[in-house]
Parts: sequence; structure tokens; C-alpha cells
Amino acid sequence: MTAPTIAHDPALDALWMPFTANKAFKAKPRLLVSAKDMHYQSDDGRQILDGAAGLWCVNAGHCRAPIVDAIARSAATLDFAPGFQMAHPASFQLADKLKGILPTGIDHVFFTNSGSEAVDSALKIALAYHQSRGEPQRTRFVGRLRGYHGVGFGGISVGGIETNKKAFASQLLPSVDHLPHTHDLEHNAFSKGQPAWGAHLADALEAIVAERGAGTIAAVIVEPMAGSTGVLIPPKGYLEKLRALCTKHGILLIFDEVITGFGRLGSPFAAQFFGVTPDIITLAKGVTNATVPMGAACVTGTIYDTVVNATEKGIEFFHGYTYSGHPLAAAAGLATLDLYANEGIFERAAAMAPVWEAAVHSLRDAPHVIDVRNLGLVAGIELEARVGAPGSRAYDVFVDCFFHQNALIRVTGDILALSPPLIVSEDQIGELMAKVRKALEKVA
Ligand SMILES: Cc1ncc(COP(=O)(O)O)c(C=O)c1O
Repeated sequence: MTAPTIAHDPALDALWMPFTANKAFKAKPRLLVSAKDMHYQSDDGRQILDGAAGLWCVNAGHCRAPIVDAIARSAATLDFAPGFQMAHPASFQLADKLKGILPTGIDHVFFTNSGSEAVDSALKIALAYHQSRGEPQRTRFVGRLRGYHGVGFGGISVGGIETNKKAFASQLLPSVDHLPHTHDLEHNAFSKGQPAWGAHLADALEAIVAERGAGTIAAVIVEPMAGSTGVLIPPKGYLEKLRALCTKHGILLIFDEVITGFGRLGSPFAAQFFGVTPDIITLAKGVTNATVPMGAACVTGTIYDTVVNATEKGIEFFHGYTYSGHPLAAAAGLATLDLYANEGIFERAAAMAPVWEAAVHSLRDAPHVIDVRNLGLVAGIELEARVGAPGSRAYDVFVDCFFHQNALIRVTGDILALSPPLIVSEDQIGELMAKVRKALEKVA
């Protein structure tokens, strides 16, 4: 069946947009043409307050001069260097700099170009690790319902967002189980920070172990704070429990920190914020302040040594990307990490978190709001779904925010997600909440 074509500018025809309602977008496009610090500029000249850090990624604000200059210098000096059997200095320097802010013990970095590739790399590393240490039967993965781990076949298999899987269900990875998610409004609605209820949900891993056998499971992968599914904050004690169970059963724990990395919660990584150290961290987005695509799977010395020492001669791990550690991305990453340190961006986010918490919870009495949750500089505002049209109310709020309130926010289903650049001021936090409230008051 063919849906009716909606009239639109033919110049928009050729592009097939990702994760977008293409027909609706092309009928009424939302175009951004430039950006600086906390604002985008739309094609009709409006200043749009960025309440989403682009897509959870522009942590230091837009078009920051030190990063722009570093990219320009790199482009003019070393445009590309092959990363297979060859290298360039900046990729080593960036790996070493990342080691400096990663949790102690996570000290080797495998570069990718995106979060999705970081996740699939991490899953492959987990398999290679167990194979190298003589437990090749550990091949199963455990993800979590509502988890988002990008769009590779590995990522959607361990992920738990049904809409992202249903068209591909016939070809997912064959051996994956899922933990329950931790979202429960009956117990946790309007929690400030980590909810008190829900640590026991990690015990579901024991049931999976009992059914499958610990010796068949390679890794558990979770977002320490689930972002894309609509901001699910881990209950107090939950991640600690997951860590203890993984250790007990010899299972690797992977934290997907593509969103939580680089100060979103006020520390370099969520692992440090929660005081729980996984075996592998995946990162992307904020590593270059989103200027040049880059991701990484970061592992312990034990994992690196085990895989690398299992091969006497020649290539130890048959995996990599043409652009792994690309010179422009590495230059952007080095400049970004310097900027984060020089401006104390992570500390700033931590200091602003209580202001943010008070501001987002002030929306509690706005129309249709059934939950407000927050951590660091992230908030999820859940709306009551319209009968028979789930997701439509939040989408309308998003559209109203863009066209009429001059604010960029994100939506997933009926949840508004807010995650501004970490340079956001107290005034701008107030301004963002006023804009969101206005949109909520307008949308039926
Ligand atoms: C936790 C997590 N993992 C992986 C990804 C995928 O990253 P990318 O879109 O760069 O492939 C995302 C993207 O939002 C994410 O939030």
C-alpha cells in the first residue's frame, strides 16, 4: 500500500532522513543553518535555545574555537592516515588522554566512528576475550528491555527498543536475553535523582544464569542511565548489584556510555558518578564535542592483554574501521578534552545539577505531566499519552517548541528528554523550562 504523497519542495526529495518521519518533515522542514555556544540558528533566522545538546553530544556548546581550529589545522596537515598496520601520533595521544579520565583500570582504547560501532566492537571484544582465555562457549549476551545500543545488528539485538528491531527480527543475533527495564511510575514517579525502588530488578540476571548456565554468557550490556528510551534513572543499588553478579559469574559488564560519557552526570563517566566500574565502556558523541564522528570501546588491561597475548605473531583481533582514529577526529578529541579540563566543564555540570533538578521538577504541575525525573544535567518529562495516539502529544510539544518557543528538545514516545550543553547558565535553564511549559500549555 502506498501512502499519499504530501506536497513538498522537490529539492528535499533525494535525502532519506534517518529516524525521521520523512513525509511529515519534508512537508514542513525544520532546518538549522548555524550554531554558537547554547544556540542554533534556523533557516528563517531564529535563535533556537539548544535544550538537547544537539543529540546529547555537544557538551561544551557549539562551534567552540579551540576545537574548530584544531580540526582545521589537522585537515591542512594530515588529512588521513591508514590505521591498519600504520598510525599517526594523535590517535595514541588521544587514547592516552582518555585513559587519564576513564575509571582506573580501563586503560586501552579501540577507536570507532560512532556509538553503534563502539557497541558492536565491544560485543566482539567480549567474545574474543573469552575465546582467548579458553572459554569459547561463553557466547551469549544479556541486554535490557528498552535499552538503546545503536543500530548495528549487534546493537539492536542486545537493545530493547521494539520499534528498532521489528523489521529486522528475523536476522538478529541468536543468543541474547534481556533483563527487565527499571521504569515503574507506580513506585518511582517524580523521583529526584536515583529512585529508591528497583535494585532487586538486577536479580533477574540470576534467573538468566540459572536457565542458561553462567559458562555460556559472555557479557551483560546496559546504559548506566538509559537515555534514548526516555531517560530511565537506575534505582539506588541496582548497578552495584549488576556488577556483583557479573563478577560472581565471570561475565563481563559493559557500560554503554555514549550519552553519559563526558560530564553529562557531572563526572567524566557515569561509572565514576555511580562508583561502579564495568569491564568495558563504550563512548562516542562528547568525545569530539560531536564535531567529527568518533566512538570507542575502552577495556581493561586484562582484556587487552588476554586477547593480544593469545596470538603469537600477526594480527590479534580481526576488526577495525578505515576511519578508526581518523586524524581529524583525533585532533578534535584532543582539543575537546583540553577544553573540558580548562573550563572545568564536568565540575560545572555537577555544580549546576541541583539548579537543574529544581527547575525541571517545577514542571510537575504543567498540563499532561505524569512524571519528572532527573540526574546530572538530564531530565525526562513523561506525558500522559493521547488515547489511541501514543507519542503524538510529545511530538506536538517538540514541534511547538521548535517553531513557536525557539527551543530544541528531544522526544521518545510520550517522553520529553532535556539535556542541554553543559555550559548552560542558570538563566538559560529557567528560559528553557518556561519555553517547555508554554508548549505544554498550548498542546491539547
Ligand atoms: C547509549 C547509546 N549507545 C549507542 C548509541 C548509538 O550511537 P550512534 O548514533 O553514534 O551510532 C547511542 C546514540 O544515541 C546511545 O545513546
